[in-house]
Amino acid sequence: MVKTSLLPPSSTHDSHRLIAILGAGAIGQLMYHKLTVCSPTPEVDDVMFIGRDKQTRQQKLDFINDKQQCHKALATILGTEDNRLAQVELLLVCVKAYQVELALIPLLTKLSPQCHIVLLHNGLGPHFSVAAALAKHQGLTLGTTSQAALKQNQWQVKHSGFGVTQLGHFSGPLMPTALKMRLNNLHSDHQPIEWHQPVLPVLWQKLAINAVINPLTALNQCANGQLAATQYQAQIAAIIGELVQVAQCDGINLDKAALSARVYQVIALTSANFSSMYQDVAHGRPTEIHEINGYICQQAKAHQLDVPQNQALLERVLRLSKPNNINSTSLK
Ligand code: PAF
Repeated sequence: MVKTSLLPPSSTHDSHRLIAILGAGAIGQLMYHKLTVCSPTPEVDDVMFIGRDKQTRQQKLDFINDKQQCHKALATILGTEDNRLAQVELLLVCVKAYQVELALIPLLTKLSPQCHIVLLHNGLGPHFSVAAALAKHQGLTLGTTSQAALKQNQWQVKHSGFGVTQLGHFSGPLMPTALKMRLNNLHSDHQPIEWHQPVLPVLWQKLAINAVINPLTALNQCANGQLAATQYQAQIAAIIGELVQVAQCDGINLDKAALSARVYQVIALTSANFSSMYQDVAHGRPTEIHEINGYICQQAKAHQLDVPQNQALLERVLRLSKPNNINSTSLK
């Protein structure tokens, strides 16, 4: 262990404004460490998780950075009955796509009526119901991150890959400048923060990456890099071709050649990784297939388009999403 910085429990005063993270998975914990101990201007007492229990508690966390240094922190996990929820002015939602509505919507009335929400999950779809459920002054920003983090155990996370985080306004009031600056502080050479307006084209591009890599790695039980093999070329081209057509009917113009180049670039950049869907299937967890290829199928249906490749992937992954269909020892 090279560096430690055990932080004191929160001494938050009533008037304090808080940043909260919903979802303490690998990305949620990565965001916590980036906003606290790893921030160039660390402000440790205003970032907290929101838990599932009624009671607030403290939790020791370890974060292993790319230099193998271990940062220690003592995080507050706010209980669902804690009055401090009303002080949350920025909420980063880092749960899986299929958990967003269930985890977030019951919380909304407990948060500040001005609380700004950021959704950071794979896939698309939950933003519609979240936008509809927000109060008048609660704005919604959507985003996607290519940062990668691996859970070593429940409260120890290793930063396993750098990448861009892309964000953009979706509905309601804009994110206040002070909060935007706080997120911009996370920017560094290998971990840029980009703001896009409109944001949906960027999210469709990420959807294409996930629509190719996630189901194909889960179904073929392989690491991302193996999808560069010629045997997958025609299938990858068909998945992207269908997505481009659906996106166009949704008012989003994507360049098929540029998108395909980006998908192959991510396959190469993450070649040794096992995708999140591979891991979900391996561990017998639900997958984000409904919000990835399922979202393409749903939008295609609304536009009366046929998307046979995406439909087949949706059905095959749904059949696969049973415990122990992939040997989880190959993840190590
Ligand atoms: O879901 C994932 O695994 C990631 O979004 C990506 C980019 C496909 C890399 O594995």
